[in-house]
Amino acid sequence: MRVLVIGSGGREHALCRALEADSQVTEVHCAPGNAGIGQIATLHAVDPADPAGVTALAERLSADLVVVGPEAPLVAGVADAVRAVGIPCFGPSAQAARIEGSKAFAKEIMVAAGVPTAASRVCSTPGEVAAALDEYGTPYVVKDDGLAAGKGVVVTGDRAEALAHAAACGRVVVEEFLAGPEVSLFALCDGTTAVPLRPAQDFKRAYDDDAGPNTGGMGAYTPLPWADEDLADQVMRLVVQPTIDELARRGLPYVGVLYAGLALTADGPQVIEFNARFGDPETQVVLDLLATPLAGLLMACATGKLDGFPPLTYRGGASVTVVLAAENYPGDPVKGDVIEGLDAEVEDSYVLHAGTALDEAGRVVSAGGRVLDVVGTGPDLESARKVAYDALGRIRLRGAHHRSDIAARVTGGTL
Ligand code: AMP
Ligand code: GLY
Repeated sequence: MRVLVIGSGGREHALCRALEADSQVTEVHCAPGNAGIGQIATLHAVDPADPAGVTALAERLSADLVVVGPEAPLVAGVADAVRAVGIPCFGPSAQAARIEGSKAFAKEIMVAAGVPTAASRVCSTPGEVAAALDEYGTPYVVKDDGLAAGKGVVVTGDRAEALAHAAACGRVVVEEFLAGPEVSLFALCDGTTAVPLRPAQDFKRAYDDDAGPNTGGMGAYTPLPWADEDLADQVMRLVVQPTIDELARRGLPYVGVLYAGLALTADGPQVIEFNARFGDPETQVVLDLLATPLAGLLMACATGKLDGFPPLTYRGGASVTVVLAAENYPGDPVKGDVIEGLDAEVEDSYVLHAGTALDEAGRVVSAGGRVLDVVGTGPDLESARKVAYDALGRIRLRGAHHRSDIAARVTGGTL
């Protein structure tokens, strides 16, 4: 099987790594990829959000399967274009990807499907915003309606800040605050059938103790020893199946991964957001433990054959990933600095590249906000965490920062 992966982050590196390990796969290609992905896949300098360019590449490579990583290509219609030429594609149509691309659309689907989520209002004027803030009270939650790479959300007790964010965004969703630990659950869907991967938890704030601004995610771990054993089943029953049924009913069959970002509230799981793609960096730890060969699984989704697929299997143990971010991330990150120490081998760990590139001298340099994901594995979370931080300690990047508390509370016995 020849597989083409679209995207260039740590998630795509993890996808390429798992695909390459599948004995059914003969070639892994990636567009555009990054320096690390280039070590295991053939890279192609094609704009990932250009439907015609991606389709032409897939045809030229005689790809058997295209896997779309990020949201922007999905919203741009890359999956539609690839499917239109008869190539199986893992990724929802542009219309179905609005489940991520428009918070208002996501809410509409959830309300129609009876999926538990925060009460909310779509607001376009300062007066509407003020009224909604009063209605839901503090902490205030104000979300940009469009795609914002995880950075369009402000959760604050400060009314002036909430109003200012709304004014800067234009159309926003103001919603009720959901209290409880957050979980990411990825459901693989073939249009009608869905299967869950293992739940994971990520760390969205930039700094330790959940301080600082929201980011795309600064680290993740799985499994979640504190969660109900049937959490994934509950979420499939309450959230995922009703959502994909509602989308199918509207003529938008959902093919790809439906990522439910959940708050586990006192009243049970509630949806904070949907994404139309794998979470980054949760994917890195979930795929690390998945034993089922990935290409066959994603192909079953892309070809409507998930029903009857053998139950997924996992390696034992735990996986932790810590993100190394560039100076100034999540603001305007500093790029172009040489990364050193990448060849240090630490047992049970490996490095996935996110924002990296090769400079003219062939050195790996920083090229994005989140630069690397260091993955550590072990028989339990404590050992996996230790391995990840040991390995991270060998890497040097001027001005870089990372959180030092990924999976810390859970290994200390609390959440
Ligand atoms: P989103 O981009 O919608 O995932 O929001 C980013 C982060 O903001 C989430 O991971 C939560 O930590 C927080 N957040 C968003 N909506 C809510 C909510 N209704 N209640 C509590 N926290 C929220
Ligand atoms: N890690 C959160 C996300 O991918 O949106």
